[in-house]
Amino acid sequence: MKVLVTGGAGYIGSTTALALEQAGHTPVILDSLETGPRAFVGERIFYEGDIADRALLQRIVADHPDIECTIHMAALIVVPDSVSDPYVYYRENVAKSLEMFDELDKLGKPRVVFSSSASVYAMPENGFEVNEDAATAPGSPYARTKLMMEQVLVDLAAATSLRALILRYFNPIGSDPGLNTGIYVREPSHVLGQLVLTAQGIKDAFTITGVDHPTRDGTGIRDYIHVWDVARAHVAAVEQFDAALEKAGATSLILNLGTGNGVTVRELVAAFERVYGASINIVEAPPRPGDAVGAYASVERVSEFLGWKAEHSIDEAIDFALAWGRKRKSILGYD
Ligand SMILES: NC(=O)c1ccc[n+]([C@@H]2O[C@H](COP(=O)([O-])OP(=O)(O)OC[C@H]3O[C@@H](n4cnc5c(N)ncnc54)[C@H](O)[C@@H]3O)[C@@H](O)[C@H]2O)c1
Repeated sequence: MKVLVTGGAGYIGSTTALALEQAGHTPVILDSLETGPRAFVGERIFYEGDIADRALLQRIVADHPDIECTIHMAALIVVPDSVSDPYVYYRENVAKSLEMFDELDKLGKPRVVFSSSASVYAMPENGFEVNEDAATAPGSPYARTKLMMEQVLVDLAAATSLRALILRYFNPIGSDPGLNTGIYVREPSHVLGQLVLTAQGIKDAFTITGVDHPTRDGTGIRDYIHVWDVARAHVAAVEQFDAALEKAGATSLILNLGTGNGVTVRELVAAFERVYGASINIVEAPPRPGDAVGAYASVERVSEFLGWKAEHSIDEAIDFALAWGRKRKSILGYD
């Protein structure tokens, strides 16, 4: 099966492209290289350009009339940037996606798998597990772009030929098993990147922001999922696209992509120390403005409709993140 992957030069897009190839499919990459590195595209079929460029979309479909599905991952993803520059985030993630969906409909390419995010959820009221019917309350312009595009897709799928599988990722970490791709930002701000910087001595200590949350140890809770599991879920989504929607009796379907396990920051640090084999200096600080206590995924629905579940442990994901950290200079050219 040929699959158009927008954002295929990015972290999750390039990993997904590899998983598609390993399952016998052919990814066709569309990426502006706005943030994703050219090195992550490798020898794949590649169109450098913008998702809202209708002429380019027409050319891609003319070149590859056998494209059967689009995985739409292209987006800007840095939450603080979305707060300081919302116009750019709404333009790139909302307005441009809308143009692309309309063109895909016109081109007779109706199947869309969309990368959404657990950041659309409201703080759960009972416990920390959220299912797809839980209340939404996105806390940043970035998260609002994701929820808006979910709503747009649901409406388009009700009114046009378009059909949508909407995947709400929890917290992808790690690398593909061959260490071809991984986190490429120079100074990672996410929690695992900060742990690696501390372990390498680049930072003096790892700061736990928020230790009085109503969780079992007071620190925030997340559902860390190995990025290879996320990539495999996309293979299942494209392979079972029609069957899943038929089973649901719907034109669109929202599915959580997580492990179903909540892990606190202290537990993540303990897992990191276990895998890394040394202890990490920790300091505790109050939560930053807007810090969410967090949640973890209910994974019943994705298992029911895609027959998929996460297979890799958090220790494996950390191991791959560390291995990628040691290797990435040889691929990216920087530490
Ligand atoms: N990484 C996470 O933790 C996470 C969590 C939840 C959801 N997501 C979603 O998954 C998707 C992929 O995330 P990622 O971490 O791989 O991000 P990434 O930044 O590595 O990849 C995004 C890619 O999209 C490309 N792009 C951006 N705007 C474009 C445009 N207008 N036209 C063409 N290409 C464009 C970039 O060049 C980049 O290669 C995003 O939609 C993101 O919102 C990511």
